[in-house]
Amino acid sequence: MPRKLSINTFKQFRDVVYSFRFSRIIFTALDLDLFNAMGARTWTIAQLSKRIHTSQRGLDILCRNLASSGLLVKVQVGYEISPFAKAYLQKSSKNFRGDYLTLMQRQWQEWSRLTEVVTSGIPVDGQEPETPEYRRSFSRAMHHRSQEPAQQVAKQISMKSSRSFLDLGGGPGTYALAFIQHNPKLQATVMDRPAALEVARTLAKKSSAESRLSFQSANFIDDNIPGKYDIVWYSNVLHIYSPSENLRVFKKIKRALKPGGRLLIQDTFLQDVQGLRPLESNLFAVTMLLYTETGNTYSLPAVRSWLHKAGLSRTRLIRLKEGTGDWEGQILEARLPVSS
Ligand SMILES: C[S@@+](CC[C@H](N)C(=O)[O-])C[C@H]1O[C@@H](n2cnc3c(N)ncnc32)[C@H](O)[C@@H]1O
Repeated sequence: MPRKLSINTFKQFRDVVYSFRFSRIIFTALDLDLFNAMGARTWTIAQLSKRIHTSQRGLDILCRNLASSGLLVKVQVGYEISPFAKAYLQKSSKNFRGDYLTLMQRQWQEWSRLTEVVTSGIPVDGQEPETPEYRRSFSRAMHHRSQEPAQQVAKQISMKSSRSFLDLGGGPGTYALAFIQHNPKLQATVMDRPAALEVARTLAKKSSAESRLSFQSANFIDDNIPGKYDIVWYSNVLHIYSPSENLRVFKKIKRALKPGGRLLIQDTFLQDVQGLRPLESNLFAVTMLLYTETGNTYSLPAVRSWLHKAGLSRTRLIRLKEGTGDWEGQILEARLPVSS
């Protein structure tokens, strides 16, 4: 995603408006289960159209476009799946991102309701309570999304002198696991809703660090945060809540930190005075409008001011190596004073 977008000509306007076309082409391939159907062999259009029950003309045009974006490879008689699509889009691969793909497919439908949501201010699922199955699938999608950045982030943040770590709203526990893998003396707790913790437990079983991970079911908006920690990791949660809700959570985090303890916040922060950059941060605010009651994206000065109000100080920005972090590779740190 470019950092900024500037539309000054009708051509630029048209290009931006029509950038939905590749998304739609990919979603149609996913809807047709095309990548799984292709397996490892070469297909003519006639063979593949029979297999996935499409018209030959429709599939010919779809495959040409998938090949032009590199998801398929054009060979003399037809098409094969590309190495990337084989690794990430086929069920048989260990890197298959299935739940994340499902989440993206659902978002196509839900983003189409944006006008309705902007008008009403009510998220797409309104007052409907979320189901445990939705939460499990969402948590698996979060793992698919975070597994690579989590390893990169864990390598770059020193936790050598810390022993206890809380992954608050940790979902699948991908970050907690990455941090304990890189810090052999660290014990971590993932705090989240029960259905998210089911996914976290299943994923932890595959790790040799499993014995240093524990799980705490809690709603940190309604309940207090039990325990005392050297580090609280608040990743991709800030944007779900309003400024006042985040302030309340920061006050609870303060009580859950040991003297000198650190709160680390990972999110997409707005970085210019007008709050227009980066583009991703503003686009993500739209996602929060669609799916949450009060969520948004925030500027670093705003978040710093809530931290100070909550009694946390010495805020500093940890910059990760370019392209290695989640979002723009910035993590905001704040400390509980030693004497508090
Ligand atoms: C977007 S996910 C982020 C997961 C993980 N921290 C990451 O960075 O990949 C947000 C997580 O916060 C959890 N969460 C949000 N509000 C919560 C609350 N009030 N109590 C417990 N968990 C909450 C959600 O269930 C979800 O797992």
